[in-house]
This record gives sequence, structure tokens and C-alpha cells, in this order.
Amino acid sequence: MVIFKNINDIKKYISLKKAEGCNVGFVPTMGALHAGHISLIEKSKQENTLVVCSIFVNPTQFNDKKDLEKYPVSTEADIELLLTAGCDVLFLPAVSEIYPDGEGHFKTYDFGYLDSILEGAQRPGHFRGVGQVVARLLEIVEPSSLYLGQKDYQQCMVLKKLVEMMELKLNVIICPTMREADGLAMSSRNRRLTESQRVISAVIYQCLVSIQSKQQTDRFAIVKKECEDLLAAKGLATEYVALADARDLTLLGDYQTDAPMVALIAARIGEIRLIDNILL
Ligand code: PAF
Repeated sequence: MVIFKNINDIKKYISLKKAEGCNVGFVPTMGALHAGHISLIEKSKQENTLVVCSIFVNPTQFNDKKDLEKYPVSTEADIELLLTAGCDVLFLPAVSEIYPDGEGHFKTYDFGYLDSILEGAQRPGHFRGVGQVVARLLEIVEPSSLYLGQKDYQQCMVLKKLVEMMELKLNVIICPTMREADGLAMSSRNRRLTESQRVISAVIYQCLVSIQSKQQTDRFAIVKKECEDLLAAKGLATEYVALADARDLTLLGDYQTDAPMVALIAARIGEIRLIDNILL
């Protein structure tokens, strides 16, 4: 695996590889890698001849600066995991490489409705930062396919819209959420959970499964209330339990019979904010 910290160097290397006939699959990450990220690398390896991963903890997407300070960093272990997974290129830039003239100097995109609901409403400015950095990374790496995890469902929708707005010829591949044995969605933030918080957090997935399984028998409002009560009983502070059209995230008041749906939950356990979703 070749590691680059400098934009010009990685661009030169990738264009050389493209001239040799390689097609590029790209997995952007913020590090603290786990099996979910590795599944994206593996999928990208199956479908491309050059797999590029980036590790960059992007300051512009953290609306809460404390969250940025506490974001787990484990670069050495990440490199080991990427080597084992057979990643070809790692881009590991410093903040000054990505934002040489300061964080405000790069283009941002307006995601409209998508930025006004759920994660957008809870984390103002978050998707502006995600769009800003991913646009920058896509201009550097110029991949033919971009690999994203379904766990960040709204982010996947935002980035699909970004690709449209940038008018890129790029496949956006959304890969299934990887879960622990008890259903908890894998996330870099799970590392910050205490042992007991870690066990309790599986309730989020249990709620999603119950929303999914009760779609034929109950009203969503009733199931939602049951989930909110259960989350509260376990000591989690719910930010949202929502049902949406899986195609465009239009929020739904009740189950639909003729539309693909997604149920989404965000909740805090102690200081840690967890999100998850399930397709219905
Ligand atoms: O999902 C993430 O890890 C980040 O939001 C991303 C897409 C790498 C942009 O910083």
C-alpha cells in the first residue's frame, strides 16, 4: 500500500495508474476503522483495480467542537487493517493540505430539504462540511466508484446529490451496515462506549427491527411511541425515531404500502450520539 500525504503526489500516482488501465474505487473515511469500513474496501477491491482509501478527520463537519476533539484516532492500527484488506493507496492529508487557505475557502453545496431534516436539523452545518470535504476528495482522487456505508443513510443521499450537482460520472455504491452480534451498528463512536453502555446500545437495533416487523399490524405512531419509551427506559435520550421514503427521505406519518421506506433512529447514551437505520 502506498501512503500519500500530499495532493500533488497522490494525483500524479493515480493518473499514472489510470494511464496503465486501472479503474479507481474510493472509500473516504475519518479513520478509527472497523469491519464496516473494511467491508467497503473489500467491495471496492472486487469491483476495481485500484482501491484508494482516505483517512481525514474533517473539522468542517463537526458542529460540536468537543465531538471533534474526542473523535477516536488510531492511524497505526488503521494502516494495519488496510494492509490486511489489500487496499492499494491511502491518502492521509493534514488539515492544511485539504484547507490550505482556511476552512472557509472551499466551495460548499446546498442540499436543501435533505439538510433540513433528521441529522441536518440536529447537526446544523454538518452536511455542508461533509459535502465540502467529499467534493474536494473527489476532485483529488477522481474515482469511477464511491463506496459508502448504509449506516449513514442520510449522508448517502446527500452525497448522491453532491455527485449530481458536481455532474460527475461516478457510481455511488451503498453497502450494507455491518453489525455486532447483538445488532449494534458498527461505528467508530462505539469505541467511546463503556461496557454497560455498549450492551444497552443494542436497544436501538431492537427498536428498528420492531418498526420493521410491525408494519403490517400497527400504526407507526404507536410503534414510534413504544420505541421512544423503550429507549428512555434504557437511559437513552432520543433525538428522533422517524420513518421516511427511502428514495428521497420525505418524512412519513405512517407506514406506506406502495413506497420503499427507511426507519431511522438517533439517540444519545451519555455523551455518545448513535445513529442507525433499517430498510422496510
Ligand atoms: O462518513 C464519514 O466517515 C465522513 O462523513 C466522510 C464521508 C469520510 C466525510 O468526511
